[in-house]
Amino acid sequence: MRKSIFITGGASGIGGASAALFLERGWNVGVYDLNRTALVDGLTGEYGAGRFAYHGGDTRSAEALKAAAEETAEALGGLGAVFACAGVHHSDTLMDVSEDELRRVMEINIMGTFNTLRACIPLILKSGGGAVVINASDQSLIGKPHSFAYGLTKGALGQMTKSLALDLAGKGVRVNAICPGTIRTPMVDAIFARCAASGAGSEAELWAEEASLFPLGRVGEASEVARLVYFLASEESSFCTGGLYTIDGGLTAG
Ligand SMILES: NC(=O)c1ccc[n+]([C@@H]2O[C@H](COP(=O)([O-])OP(=O)(O)OC[C@H]3O[C@@H](n4cnc5c(N)ncnc54)[C@H](O)[C@@H]3O)[C@@H](O)[C@H]2O)c1
Repeated sequence: MRKSIFITGGASGIGGASAALFLERGWNVGVYDLNRTALVDGLTGEYGAGRFAYHGGDTRSAEALKAAAEETAEALGGLGAVFACAGVHHSDTLMDVSEDELRRVMEINIMGTFNTLRACIPLILKSGGGAVVINASDQSLIGKPHSFAYGLTKGALGQMTKSLALDLAGKGVRVNAICPGTIRTPMVDAIFARCAASGAGSEAELWAEEASLFPLGRVGEASEVARLVYFLASEESSFCTGGLYTIDGGLTAG
């Protein structure tokens, strides 16, 4: 398979750590993200054209995504894999989420992933096959309080992984999802900052409380998740398809 991967949400957090790891391991990487970050500037400077390509855009725009994926495949010599990572969190319950907010979370987390896969899978097939990795969540497997919209969308991604894996199994494309527990990223920093601002305790206290929920006694790091993404996107996982892989310090074990 071609050692090139298209990563949505690759400018920060789990997607950013994945982009850096694939580059370090010799792959070519295309990142599609709403924001051009210092990480993107650093990777552009370090690897340059032919190894790394950045496109700014929203995964809700199917057209922009398709154009970016095609340009990436052209620039990087085909496409062997996609990591559909971009997503957003929202804290709510069924009774208090607004219809607009529910639609926004569904449009980014479900339709954004759908748009990403629709843009990339034809390019992967054209390049001779490869792998799809979807960023789901521990909430694809368990429920959490005050996480109605987010849990709903991540449950849907788990199902998307399984049906897509069956449809592509005979075509040389494997499809798997990662199900991370809490990982220290700007997304979770922002959640705890909001909670702290509303009087729920200091950010340090909130992080400590979160860590205590995990059997391993801590939250995860984006670089640890990136290694699982690498395993699933590369030939190292050649007999894996249709799987939801937990990386959660034991949280969902019981
Ligand atoms: N951090 C965690 O604890 C955790 C746990 C489980 C799953 N996840 C999932 O991992 C993914 C990445 O989260 P993270 O924690 O690394 O967050 P993050 O905020 O650090 O990174 C997310 C990136 O996605 C980009 N993005 C968001 N919406 C986008 C859109 N519509 N179009 C293009 N880019 C967009 C952002 O600009 C950002 O760069 C999300 O899907 C999230 O649900 C995170």
